[in-house]
Amino acid sequence: MATSRFLRACRREPVDVTPVWFMRQAGRYMAEYRALRERHSLLDICRAPDLATEVTLQPVHRIEVDAAILFSDLLLPLEPMGLPFDFIKGEGPQIESPITSPADIERLKTFEPREALGHVLDAIGMIQRELAGRVPLIGFAGAPFTLASYAIEGGHSNNFARTKALMYGHPGAWHRLADQLAALVADYLVAQIEAGVDAVQVFDSWVGVLSPADYREFALPHTRRIFDTIGGRVPTIHFGTGTAAILHELREAGGDVIGVDWRIPIDTAWERIGADRAVQGNLDPTLLLGPTDRMFTQTDDILQRVGGRAGHIFNLGHGILPSTPVEHVQMLAQYVHSASRRMR
Ligand code: CP3
Repeated sequence: MATSRFLRACRREPVDVTPVWFMRQAGRYMAEYRALRERHSLLDICRAPDLATEVTLQPVHRIEVDAAILFSDLLLPLEPMGLPFDFIKGEGPQIESPITSPADIERLKTFEPREALGHVLDAIGMIQRELAGRVPLIGFAGAPFTLASYAIEGGHSNNFARTKALMYGHPGAWHRLADQLAALVADYLVAQIEAGVDAVQVFDSWVGVLSPADYREFALPHTRRIFDTIGGRVPTIHFGTGTAAILHELREAGGDVIGVDWRIPIDTAWERIGADRAVQGNLDPTLLLGPTDRMFTQTDDILQRVGGRAGHIFNLGHGILPSTPVEHVQMLAQYVHSASRRMR
């Protein structure tokens, strides 16, 4: 397993061809996922280890991916903290009673992930037995800023006004919240590693809304605590979108691999990140809708900018969109393998 091309690339070791996996590689663009969702809610799937295992493996069976990602959701730790939520069709997540004041933060609970999220850890064991070493398994969790933003906004937001108002208006309470989230997420990721994941990705999906100075003040120390706690146990990936202006800060917070979105050319991003880290990315997910010649041209551009440097993991700049034809995803994974082999 340590010799898999995905794990080798995380460590910036040479590989035969560029490893590829896709954020949201399990999900609504696949007919077999939609079929399962007719009978079970998203949370049911997340809470039943056998269903989570089945969904995690769906893309591994259909697509030439070099890694599996645990099927779960970023928001699961919110419920045992006292912030129950649900997924509303067509709207995304909705937190029942979002945080509105410092007093709400004082009331939050802490929890033991091995108990409250034991079903996720059971799923990891089942997935690893089914995978039987075919490809490595990536575990994940949310970074404090992105998790706090859901807890405060109550769902998706365009400007993160409530989150920033709490950050600026009650910095002490913000830091207590972010610190509590960092401690829980770090413990949860260590538990995932003990349960058998081969690498972990920390999603700070919305952190690109912060300026470099605000990132340093309000996010960096908390995210860094997560990476410091994991230490060298397994390779770590640190991902966010809209991060072109804060890549240097993201790198400082931690991560063996930095995930970048499509808004910045990958070679420019890598210069800002530094040659001592691996880079993951960065095709625009909308290109997978077609026409495919544009998807291939842009893939060539990414591979050429990387120029065969060790430490590139091919991925999208964000998750696969539900309307993506599955054939395009299959073609893209094959193409990354064949085109990168020719370039070596
Ligand atoms: O990548 C994978 O294949 C693993 C599965 C995965 C899911 N959520 C399943 C899911 C992962 C890695 C996540 C992470 C996640 N969840 C993030 C961070 C990644 C990102 O996209 O930036 C966030 C912000 C969430 C919270 C969340 N969950 C939102 C905002 C939504 C609604 C968005 C949408 O597409 O409807 C979800 C729902 C969700 N989580 C789906 C899946 C497959 C949608 C599928 C469904 O309703 O059946």
